[in-house]
Amino acid sequence: MKGIQGKITLVTGGTRGIGKGIAKRFLEEGATVIIVGGKNKEDADHAVAELSPLGPIEAMMVDLSDAAAVEKMVDDVAAKYGRIDILVNNAGIQIRQWATEFKLEDFDKVINVNMRAYYLASRTAARHMKEQGGGSIVCISSGNSQCYTSQRSAYNISKTAVNGLVATLGVEWARFNIRINAVAPGYVMTEMIQKGIDDGIIDIENIMKVIPMKRLLLPEEIGSTVAFLASDEASGITGQTIFTDGGWSKAGLPESKDL
Ligand SMILES: NC(=O)c1ccc[n+]([C@@H]2O[C@H](COP(=O)([O-])OP(=O)(O)OC[C@H]3O[C@@H](n4cnc5c(N)ncnc54)[C@H](O)[C@@H]3O)[C@@H](O)[C@H]2O)c1
Repeated sequence: MKGIQGKITLVTGGTRGIGKGIAKRFLEEGATVIIVGGKNKEDADHAVAELSPLGPIEAMMVDLSDAAAVEKMVDDVAAKYGRIDILVNNAGIQIRQWATEFKLEDFDKVINVNMRAYYLASRTAARHMKEQGGGSIVCISSGNSQCYTSQRSAYNISKTAVNGLVATLGVEWARFNIRINAVAPGYVMTEMIQKGIDDGIIDIENIMKVIPMKRLLLPEEIGSTVAFLASDEASGITGQTIFTDGGWSKAGLPESKDL
């Protein structure tokens, strides 16, 4: 893809799951990749060991619920590499509970990681990108920004806000040659989904009734859409949310697997 080779690319949550699939794709395209993990240093070490044969990669451990730490993360990358070309806001958390019972501290936790950190990292990166003459930002939203499921109120709200965030900043920053878009994944098999299955909240057979492709997606399939949006191939696109969801957001009635 045009315009990724040699680019300094920061991927939050790149230590596992979808973020690791995104990091892999950018390395394959010739980028220099910095992945960010939260608490699990083992995940970060594994990801670096697995992906380093593909190209230059390093890991940082940052708590994205800490506003000052988010800004420092972006500034540190720009200081070390002299620029930041591509930012992928991917790290996200899910807490499942009925809205009537949702603890305020849990609500804040989800909003701060899934939305406030995206805003802070994006605007810190944009300050550097403005000086450099441009850049590209991609945020990971969710099918739950359009198809809403019970017991996920904070998550659904945070992801709906991400679609609004890229739209509003896309309009504001087009004049600085900075594009910002979102990718909304459907169901992708990662630790986040596995936990939902283990907790008895996610029923894969039931979900497949509303996914026209009738399968879970792979992290690499999200990585392809992210790389496209970040690349010069998407030079005319900003402020958009692209659903990479096996058709979920366009499905009407549930269909049994025999149809
Ligand atoms: N898996 C799916 O089916 C699915 C569907 C739609 C959207 N998404 C979104 O895709 C993104 C990645 O999801 P995933 O399934 O790979 O999740 P995951 O739980 O497997 O990985 C989450 C990543 O985020 C990082 N992270 C979490 N909290 C953090 C914090 N406070 N500070 C720093 N890093 C932190 C973790 O270290 C990890 O690298 C999320 O934004 C999620 O909402 C996932």
